[in-house]
Amino acid sequence: MKMVKTAFSYQVFAGLKSTFWALQNRLARSTINHNNNRPFSIVMPEKVSPIRSVPSHIPTPPYVSTTPGQDACPLNIEIHSQEGINRMKDACHLARKILNLTAEQLKVGMTTDKIDEIVHQLCIDHNVYPSPLGYLGFPKSVCTSVNNVACHGIPDSRPLQDNDIINIDVTVYANGYHGDVSETYLIGNVDERGQTLVETTRQCLMESIALCRPGTRFGEIGRKISEVASSAGFRVIPEFCGHGIGTYFHGLPDIFHIDLGDDAKMQKGMIFTIEPVICDGKPDIKICSDAWTAITKDNSRSAQFEHCIAIVENGAEILTL
Ligand code: MF3
Ligand code: CO
Ligand code: CO
Repeated sequence: MKMVKTAFSYQVFAGLKSTFWALQNRLARSTINHNNNRPFSIVMPEKVSPIRSVPSHIPTPPYVSTTPGQDACPLNIEIHSQEGINRMKDACHLARKILNLTAEQLKVGMTTDKIDEIVHQLCIDHNVYPSPLGYLGFPKSVCTSVNNVACHGIPDSRPLQDNDIINIDVTVYANGYHGDVSETYLIGNVDERGQTLVETTRQCLMESIALCRPGTRFGEIGRKISEVASSAGFRVIPEFCGHGIGTYFHGLPDIFHIDLGDDAKMQKGMIFTIEPVICDGKPDIKICSDAWTAITKDNSRSAQFEHCIAIVENGAEILTL
């Protein structure tokens, strides 16, 4: 009885919530053309196409097949063998190749759903599984985050516009390992502030990687990223973290992009991502009713870049170059 009542009120609540969002979306969109001091369009979730299928000969990660929802990872930070690092490299190179081939085709008018179709097909052509598809219910094969969408944008029916900035985040499951990489791209002519945001975010990632080596404190990553972002007048959105990666999509360590005083030290053989999300406004976000799309509360723009790195003898090797 209690269960039924709970389920019923949840349904009512979910209904109200989606009505609320529909209204919010309409309101937000109606302000786009009247907004004199914003050169870019404010993006809200639009129509998502049906789920794409993957041929059954392509091996799927455990969270899609054997143990739904489970992304089994070790309870301690894994120290990978050279063999493991080599297999990660293969997955990362393929993720990079698919990201680059997709990026070459970007143009004004292309929907983010078309980007999903391209990434999905490239994965199939290379016999690898698109890791996002079915991960904790994510419905598409890639994340596409445009303008005020900070992270985890679901590809949909919105066509790219002149002056958009878009993060494309590709992860592939290849030979039992996940390769994870993302970049932010400029569509058409982007205003100078937008270009600076994108370049500063790239710089945040690259300067933090330059500090990584055995013995470096994990907190140094976030310290450097905050320093680079704030010196250009931008802010780090702290909710989004990098992560350990390997035969699992998300594992330890959590990589914070601000310095929370993490004193743990990097060791040779660790593999993790760094993927700062940097915004041009208040770093507060909200999650849309689709349970994924994260947008900035003040509609400010954000950019993100991501690499997978391995800690090696004298520094860090970027696996997703
Ligand atoms: N690729 C993202 C990351 O960098 C994760 C996306 S999870 C998804 O960690 F389900 F949204 F795809
Ligand atoms: Co990642
Ligand atoms: Co990613």
